[in-house]
Amino acid sequence: MSNLAYDTELPEHEMPAQEMAPARDVELNDIRPIPRISIQAFCETEAVAKLIERAGGDRRMAKTHLKVQLGGIEAALDYYGQAPTPNLIVLESRAEPKRLLDALDRLANVCDPSTKVVVIGHYNDVWLYRELVKSGVSEYVVAPVSLADVVGTVAQIFVDPGAEPLGRSFAFIGAKGGVGSSTLAHNVAWAMSCAFESEVVMADLDLPFGTANINFDQDPAQGIAEAVYSPERLDEVYLDRLLAQCAERLSLLAAPSTLERTYDFDADAFGQIIETVQRTAPLLVLDIPHLWNGWTRSTLTQADEIIITATPELANLRNTKNLLDTLAKLRPNDAAPRLVINQAGVPKRPEISPEEFAEPLGLDPIAVIPFEPQLFGNASNNGRMLGEMDAQHAITRTVSDIAHILTGRSEIKPKAKPGLAGLLGKLQRKG
Ligand SMILES: Nc1ncnc2c1ncn2[C@@H]1O[C@H](COP(=O)(O)OP(=O)(O)OP(=O)(O)O)[C@@H](O)[C@H]1O
Ligand SMILES: [Mg+2]
Repeated sequence: MSNLAYDTELPEHEMPAQEMAPARDVELNDIRPIPRISIQAFCETEAVAKLIERAGGDRRMAKTHLKVQLGGIEAALDYYGQAPTPNLIVLESRAEPKRLLDALDRLANVCDPSTKVVVIGHYNDVWLYRELVKSGVSEYVVAPVSLADVVGTVAQIFVDPGAEPLGRSFAFIGAKGGVGSSTLAHNVAWAMSCAFESEVVMADLDLPFGTANINFDQDPAQGIAEAVYSPERLDEVYLDRLLAQCAERLSLLAAPSTLERTYDFDADAFGQIIETVQRTAPLLVLDIPHLWNGWTRSTLTQADEIIITATPELANLRNTKNLLDTLAKLRPNDAAPRLVINQAGVPKRPEISPEEFAEPLGLDPIAVIPFEPQLFGNASNNGRMLGEMDAQHAITRTVSDIAHILTGRSEIKPKAKPGLAGLLGKLQRKG
C-alpha cells in the first residue's frame, strides 16, 4: 500500500456510478482461478464477513489462504502493529469518508508496500473513491456486495490481465463403471473439434485402463504419465511433445494403459497439467475414471463443467444423487453437473424411465442415448469415432448436440428431436 496522502477538498462533480464500482456485474463463470495469495479481511458487519467466508469457499478461490475476522480497520491496525501484512487486506468500514481516510493513513504506516488493500464501504461518494485510489487503495466497493463482486475484485487485482485466457475444462465421469463415460467423452471431444475452429485436448486420466488410445487408434510412446510424474519439466513446450494428434484440431494426452506400476496420486496431482493445457487450448475434455479419491474429487471440483453419464438403473441413480449432492457442496456457486443417460433400452432389461430417473435428482438429462451395440462395437473395434462410422446416425447427431450445449454455442430447442429430452427450462444454470 502506498502512502495515503490526500487532500480534503470536497468534489465538484459526481462521478458516474459505474466508475465508482468497476468490479460490479461480473459473471462468476467468467472469473479465472485466483493464485496462491494470502488474504485477510477485517469486517464490521456479520453480513459482509459471512459473504467473504462464502467467497473463500468458491472453487476459484481454492488456492488462496483466507482469514476473516470482525473489528474493522481498528482491529486491523492493532493486528498489523505486531504481524506482517498479507498479499491482500480487505477492510469493511462504515466510517464516514474523512474518518475512513484517516484510519487508512495510519494503516499505511504498518503495511508492507506490496500489500494490496480493498475497501468495502458504505458511502457512495465520488470524492472518497478518488481519494482512496490516489492513496493506493486498489479498489473501493460500496456495500451491499455480492459474492461475484468479492471474487471478481480479487481476480481483477491478482489475475494477470495480459495472461492468455484459460481454456474451459469439461470433466466426464460415470455414475458406475462401464456406463460409457469414456466413449462419450472421446466422441464429444471429437465432435467439438469438428464443429468449431478451436483446438481441443482430450486428457485420459484413467492411467491403468484408459481407452482413448484404442478409441482414437493411437499408440503414443509418451502421454499423461510423463506429465504427472515430471511436474518440474512441465511447460507448454514439453506438453506439446506429449500430445498425440488425433484429428485436425484434436490432440490426445494418452494414458499408458499398462500395469507395471500402481497409480497413486496426491489430491492436486493433475492441477498443474490441467492449467498448462488450458493455457494452450480453448477446450479441454477430461476423461475421469469411476473412482472417488482425493485426486478425482479435486479434479472434478476444479472443472468448469461436469458431465455425469449414467445408465437407467437403480445403483446409477443412487450414485448420481450422491455425486450431485456432494458436488453441490464442493461447488456451491456453480451450476449443477450435466446428466447423460446412456445405454437406454437394453433388450429385456428392467429400466428406470428417464422421467423417473430425473425426478429424485431434480435434474433432467441433456441427452438420452439408446443402447446401440453394433454402432458402438464397430466404432471401438475399429478405433474410429461414431461420427466417422456413421455421420448421419441419430446418436452421432446427439453427440454433436451435446458438444454444442456444453460449449454454449447452441441452446436446446424446446421441441427437441428424439434422443434429446426437451428440457430447455431446466437447463438454465443455477449459479
Ligand atoms: N449407448 C451405447 N450402446 C452400446 N454400447 C455402448 C454405449 N455406450 C458405450 N458403449 C460401450 O460400453 C463399453 C464401456 O464404455 P466405456 O469404456 O466408455 O465406459 P466407462 O464408463 O468409461 O467405463 P470405465 O468404468 O471402465 O471407465 C464400451 O465397449 C462402449 O463401446
Ligand atoms: Mg472410462
